[in-house]
Amino acid sequence: MAMIAAKCPQYRVTVVDINERRISEWNSDNLPIFEPGLDELVKAARGRNLFFSTEIEKGIRDADIIFVSVNTPTKTFGQGAGMAADLQYWEKTARQILANSDRDKIIVEKSTLPVRTAKAMERILNGNQGNVKFEVLSNPEFLAEGSAVKDLENPDRVLIGSRETGEGLKARKELMDVYANWVQREKIIGSNVWSSELSKLTANAFLAQRVSSINSLSALCEATEADIEEVAYAIGTDSRIGNKFLKASVGFGGSCFKKDILNLVYICRSYGLNEVADYWDSVVRLNEWQEKRFVLNMLSNMFNTVAGKKIAVLGFAFKANTGDTRESPAIYITRGLIEERALVNVSDPKALDNARLDLKDIKERVEFIEDPYRATEGSHAIAVLTEWDIYKNLDYKRILDSMVKPAFIFDGRNILNHRELFDLGFNVFAIGKAPLKHF
Ligand code: UDX
Repeated sequence: MAMIAAKCPQYRVTVVDINERRISEWNSDNLPIFEPGLDELVKAARGRNLFFSTEIEKGIRDADIIFVSVNTPTKTFGQGAGMAADLQYWEKTARQILANSDRDKIIVEKSTLPVRTAKAMERILNGNQGNVKFEVLSNPEFLAEGSAVKDLENPDRVLIGSRETGEGLKARKELMDVYANWVQREKIIGSNVWSSELSKLTANAFLAQRVSSINSLSALCEATEADIEEVAYAIGTDSRIGNKFLKASVGFGGSCFKKDILNLVYICRSYGLNEVADYWDSVVRLNEWQEKRFVLNMLSNMFNTVAGKKIAVLGFAFKANTGDTRESPAIYITRGLIEERALVNVSDPKALDNARLDLKDIKERVEFIEDPYRATEGSHAIAVLTEWDIYKNLDYKRILDSMVKPAFIFDGRNILNHRELFDLGFNVFAIGKAPLKHF
């Protein structure tokens, strides 16, 4: 919404939320999320044509176009628990829109929803036989965290799904016109609503599948003399494969990949497409295995015990340039190490507040220390779990001198200079590479 406000001064954009604290943070100098470039964007438009408010009903009444971006977490109860999307917030919002509208509106589905949800929403909204008409559009968001502003400014595409009726196409065009203020027309794609909804799930499934594919082979590389980065480079030069999203890692995290794939799996199963469901399910299973493998690898290389040993986790966010820790592999790995009775120091430049919440049930066994030198001091091992730039250029000689020997470093993101670290005296274990050991 900040980007729309910035690019379209002729529109008035109001963001409403029930969470008062969150809204007051959006109105303050300390925005509730860290995202490169977002501060400047919000500050430029706020108070001009971008407003943050808790007056939801007024916001609904005043708007011609409503973007619904409420959360759709994985269901934790009942039918489809653990897989299907929990749509209660979406439905509540639809009813609230219905109760507070006295003229026609375009409703844009921004939250990622299971295929065919727009139809259900339209039934709720247009089921009252009143004079007010709602046109429901699907407009999935493809931005990635950490590069959100850049992705929104210059998207690969904008996708807008609508009904293919006269009114549906008119609403589609109206939303296309909003984006056309800064996005080239040929990048704004129209489709039917279901294709649009399914494209979002499919895009995330394909991206996650690439990570699981390269991660599966990282295990084979570790067992042989091959190097996963050399393999990724070699295959990435094939223009049909492409070189992006081929970085082997400790596993993918984030709020979308797992949730969307499980959603896709659930939909497939509900249509009796069990082979398709199993195929996509394996992408998530492989990811879980990769995280587990990382812990087991640490354990087996540290003489099969980490009990009482101090381990520094460098990076807790699910990727660099964000403070977000949702589904971060660091959560699972830290918990795994704690289960093995290790003493863990967690370090991260932006994610420590979230890390504290993620680990609050075991907080007495974890220390949260932002300074990487202090976090690694006196430790037996370092695990690099987020690819923050700051970890690339630390003074590793100084760190090694402060550690217990033999000192171990497990690079879960392949961002370090492994040969140099080995020459300094570290035992180095990197994803998809032969270990460099002094013993
Ligand atoms: C993703 C999609 O990219 C985005 O289009 C969608 O709108 C939301 O979900 P996001 O979760 O923000 O975005 O981050 P992304 O950059 O896709 O990374 C997801 C995870 O995969 C991270 O944990 C990242 O570290 C990991 N990853 C990514 C790898 O391990 N290797 C790679 O090569 C790329």
